Formats: sequence, structure tokens, C-alpha cells
Amino acid sequence: MEAGPSMQYDPFSPECLADPYPYYAWLRDEHPLYYVEAYDMWVVSRFQDVYDMLGNPELPFEAREGTVPTRAEMLARNDGPVPPLPLEPVTGFTRMDQPYQGRLRGFINQPFRPRPVARLEDWFRDMVRADLPGVLAQGEVNLPTVFGLWTARTMCHLAGLPLEMAADLRDAINESSAAIGNADLGLDPLDGLKRISRAAHLAVARRRDAGVDGTRPFVDGALNAAFEGRSLSGREVAAQLVVPLIGGVETVPKVTSHGLWELTKNPDQLAAVRADLARNTAIAYDEMARYCGPAQWFSRTVTAPVDVLGRHLTPGQRIIFLIQSAQRDPREFPEPDTFRWERPMKRTLAFGHGGHFCMGMHLAKMEGRVLLQEFLSAVDEFEFDEDAAERSASSFQTGWDTLPVRIR
Ligand code: HEM
Repeated sequence: MEAGPSMQYDPFSPECLADPYPYYAWLRDEHPLYYVEAYDMWVVSRFQDVYDMLGNPELPFEAREGTVPTRAEMLARNDGPVPPLPLEPVTGFTRMDQPYQGRLRGFINQPFRPRPVARLEDWFRDMVRADLPGVLAQGEVNLPTVFGLWTARTMCHLAGLPLEMAADLRDAINESSAAIGNADLGLDPLDGLKRISRAAHLAVARRRDAGVDGTRPFVDGALNAAFEGRSLSGREVAAQLVVPLIGGVETVPKVTSHGLWELTKNPDQLAAVRADLARNTAIAYDEMARYCGPAQWFSRTVTAPVDVLGRHLTPGQRIIFLIQSAQRDPREFPEPDTFRWERPMKRTLAFGHGGHFCMGMHLAKMEGRVLLQEFLSAVDEFEFDEDAAERSASSFQTGWDTLPVRIR
């Protein structure tokens, strides 16, 4: 796609879904704040602007309409202010305005902090080590599916769910993500979401049966919490778990599999990482999260009149932040379209910024590092079947979900 006067950016158009990167370069150079009439929506594409706006709590940008709306939701213009969501019953924290988003998130985020994540590392590594020989013996495997089983088991473990549920949870999450923003797939995002929601409700019921003794703080934290002077209902607690379950299952497998693929395309880089796995995998994972991050953008709703980048934004309009455009902005990253495992990085937007900063970053980095270490330790030679690689492009993310790898 050549940049030119006829170019238009629509995150839901087939052309953008197929390859958004030429659009991102054009937006960054020509229209750092771009307006899409059909959705009454502004688009921010440069690293510095995304960083400044997401990180500024004074700006009236709230997640009350959800952060990854579908095209149908975007087409329903607000033409005026959108009221805040009710506090009772309260919905999942990722859609709540401040200060409630921060309070609700604080109830459940204890196991995702650095020390609890460090304590989880041996459990995760042992599980991967126990399974790897059987996986490798198959000769050819779809890497995101294999990695996804392990990340799903981890989220089941944290939620007190049976580990046997992991495969279904992984599949439900991948299906609903692929369906968002891609009507052509014929999938209803709600089908997958209902299965994820059922898992969240089961987690609540199981913790209640177990006595809510604090051993599963991801769920117990919200069950034991006082919110606005009252306890949360089971339904309200389950609502807090849904987005963490999704984020915790699907992103790491896509980033890690794609990252390994980039390493095989650059054999000198693969050799360099292999030279000291204990040290280099953490560094390489930062570049993988920058270069291979599947999430394209996140949305907010304007809640008060405001001027940004020389334009006047009014209540009810949407503003989306193009994370993947920011991560490929040459103003921040020299030669941004080149994968360089040891790229020096002052800062990153891979995990977002500001109030909605990724709750699972420490877990993601631990899992990604361990997966790279264990896979590369166990496998001397492997190659990706590039012809079979597939990604179910949705507006919200473009992660590779089919990446078969042959083990030699
Ligand atoms: C490499 C892996 C991952 C990447 C690249 C990633 C990326 C992101 C990004 C960019 C955001 C910001 C969304 C926004 O601004 O609206 C985010 C939010 C979030 N992430 Fe992650 N994530 C990853 C792994 C995880 C994991 C393992 C979890 C497990 C709990 C998780 C849970 C969440 C949650 C709950 C939010 C919403 C936070 C809020 O709204 O307060 N993510 N993630």
C-alpha cells in the first residue's frame, strides 16, 4: 500500500487488518492525530504522544466503553457525553473510571507483583519441563497452542481452577479475540466470552467452597474486599477476573512463538541468545514484546472537552492509541522494523502506560523468559513451517496463532 492522498485509516478495514504497518507509518508522518468520521474517533500514532497521553491522569480519557470495542460498537456514535458506569452492580475494573479502576484492580493484583511472580517461577518451569519431552516427541507442533496450554494452566492455578480446564480456556480466549473486529470469521466474540465468564464464576464458587482463606489472592482478594462500604457479589468478583484471564492466557504464547520465529530468521541472533540463555532471554524478550506484540490498539472515551495536539475533542468521542504504531516509531526506535534481540530500550509501550498499565507484565516476562530458556535448552534444531503460518487478523490484535514448528 502506497501512502497518498487517497489513503484512509480504518482499523476494521480488510486492508488494515491484512497489514496495518504502512498505515501506521503514514499516520505518524502525516496525521499524528487522525480523525475517523464513521466512528467519531481520534487516532494517536506516535510513540511520544501515546506515552504522554496514556500517562497523563489529568486527561479526560476513560475506559467506560471498554478498551477493545467491536466495529458495531464503534459505529454507534455517542454524539454527546457517556455517563460513568454504575458502582452497583460494578463491572470489571478495566472498564471503570478512576479511582474505582485502581481500587478494584488492587483487590486482585497481589499475585502479579514481582515477588509472588518470582515464587511462581519454579512451579511454571517444572510444568514446562515435565511436558516438553512429550511435546517434542510429536516432531511437529503448533507452538502458540503448546505455549498457550501452559499459560492457561498458570491462570487456572492462580484462580484455583482445575488444570484440566486449561485447554478449553485457551481455545475460548483465542476464539473470542479472533472474532473481535473480524466479522468475516463468522465467530461471535460473545461465544468465547461466555465460556471465559463461566470459568470466572466457577473460580468464585470454588474459592467460596474452599473457605476464601487467602491462598488464591487473585480471587480471594476481591471476595474479601470492601468496595464502597459493601462486599462484592459473586458476579461482581467474577467480572474482575475475566480480562486478567484473557490477558494472562493469550499474549505470552503469541509473543514468544513469534519471537522464536524472528530468531530463526536471524541465525546469528539465535546463536547470540543461545550463548548465555540465563542472561540473554530476558533481554531478547523485551524486543519480542516490542516487535511481536499482538495488541494493535486500545480505546478510551472522551469525558470532558479537551484540546490535544492542536485539535478540540468533545465528550462522547473515542480516542484510540496505536500501541503497535508507537512501538515501530523511528522517532523512538532506530530501524524499528528490524528485529534486534539486544536493542537498547529507554522505555517501551509494549505493556501500555498509565492507569491501565498491564497488570501481568511481571508474569509475562517470567513466563516468556522461562519458555525461551526451556525450549532452546531442549531443542538443538528446529524450523518454522512458514507456509502454514496463520494469524486470524482482528482489528484489536494480529498475533500469530498458527505457527507450526518442526523439531529436528
Ligand atoms: C507479553 C505479554 C503481554 C503484553 C504484550 C500485554 C500488553 C498489555 C497492554 C498494552 C495493556 C494496556 C491496555 C490499555 O491501555 O487499555 C495491557 C493491559 C492488561 N494486561 Fe497485559 N499484556 C501481556 C500479558 C499479560 C498477562 C500475562 C496478564 C495476566 C494477568 C495481563 C493482564 C492485563 C490486564 C488485566 C490488563 C488491563 C489493566 C487495566 O485495565 O487496568 N497481561 N496488557
